[in-house]
Amino acid sequence: GVADKGPYRHYMLKEIFEQPTVIADTLEGRIHDGRLLESCFGVGASALLDQVRQVHIVACGTSYHAGLVARYWLEELGVPASVEVASEYRYRDPVIAPGTLFVSISQSGETADTLAALRGAKARGCLGSLAICNVPESSLVRESGLVLMTRAGREIGVASTKAFTTQLVALRLLSIALGRRHALTLEREQLLVSELTALPAQVEAALALNKDIERLAEAFADKHHALFLGRGTQYAVAMEGALKLKEISYIHAEAYAAGELKHGPLALVDPTMPVLCVLPDNALQEKVVSNLQEVRARGGELFLFADAGLDVHFEGSGVHLLRVGPVSDSIAPVVFTVPLQLLAYHVAVLKGTDVDQPRNLAKSVTVE
Ligand code: G6P
Repeated sequence: GVADKGPYRHYMLKEIFEQPTVIADTLEGRIHDGRLLESCFGVGASALLDQVRQVHIVACGTSYHAGLVARYWLEELGVPASVEVASEYRYRDPVIAPGTLFVSISQSGETADTLAALRGAKARGCLGSLAICNVPESSLVRESGLVLMTRAGREIGVASTKAFTTQLVALRLLSIALGRRHALTLEREQLLVSELTALPAQVEAALALNKDIERLAEAFADKHHALFLGRGTQYAVAMEGALKLKEISYIHAEAYAAGELKHGPLALVDPTMPVLCVLPDNALQEKVVSNLQEVRARGGELFLFADAGLDVHFEGSGVHLLRVGPVSDSIAPVVFTVPLQLLAYHVAVLKGTDVDQPRNLAKSVTVE
């Protein structure tokens, strides 16, 4: 039967609030004694992973954004990785070097372009294929050699939320598995695993910002355009936040790598164009802050989601500062995603759109 919404007004909100539980479920049985259990990738996974030299990640929509985060995670651990949308990958001639693992990411496992990309990579002789997927009986799972299931449970809202954050968790596990064969030390693995274990509580804390974000949404609802900024993994988080806002509130939102601001989008910044920025506590923090000074100097209204451990101050009015965490960098993309989901949700509710079934969009795109 159809799952019920419980106390929630929309499935999307219910699914946002399920994230601490489904993240814990996705970790369940996959880590032990501070280490990853490689058996979670399926029979014979370790022998195959030994041969991997690089990774091609392919996906669509929100799942593609999870892939973008994973590229930073993999390369940080010494694993060469590329990421591409499936509709492009399938129609160009990707060079599949020896030792290439093809990784697909999909909530449904039925997205036509993603399936076609998998079939193409197999035909071109990739070393192996891994599906990160939420539907066990899907085509993608059946056709992939290795499988790592996200355990988000059924997702009904067209705008993906809990599927995305559990994909990130699965990709963190994959980066640990491949990282072990490259630059990841045992000590570092134990640290990364302990940060993953802390994730459900961190996401719970981010959900506690719901009321603040509901208030913040009022300043957003009458806008026609918005700019989302981030750097590093948070660039992908900004892209996902902008996509959420577009999908359900129909506000035109565009994400930019903060360092690219001066190469164009700064020309658009004025008091009617809100700028939202995700600012975790990492090495790029000061650079992002100086990008934001540029925005302030042009009179742009700033919505800043900053790590609670950071000492940031902006003079004058027109700055909305929301504190997230403090949270360690390795899991910050998951935690910072949550307030952006909530913002999109509350803006959509204020605008009175059909939150769970946005116009023109489908939950799963099974034809080209
Ligand atoms: C559709 C959905 C998105 C989803 C995308 C990819 O566009 O509306 O929420 O991210 O398809 O779907 P998949 O099932 O492959 O993750």
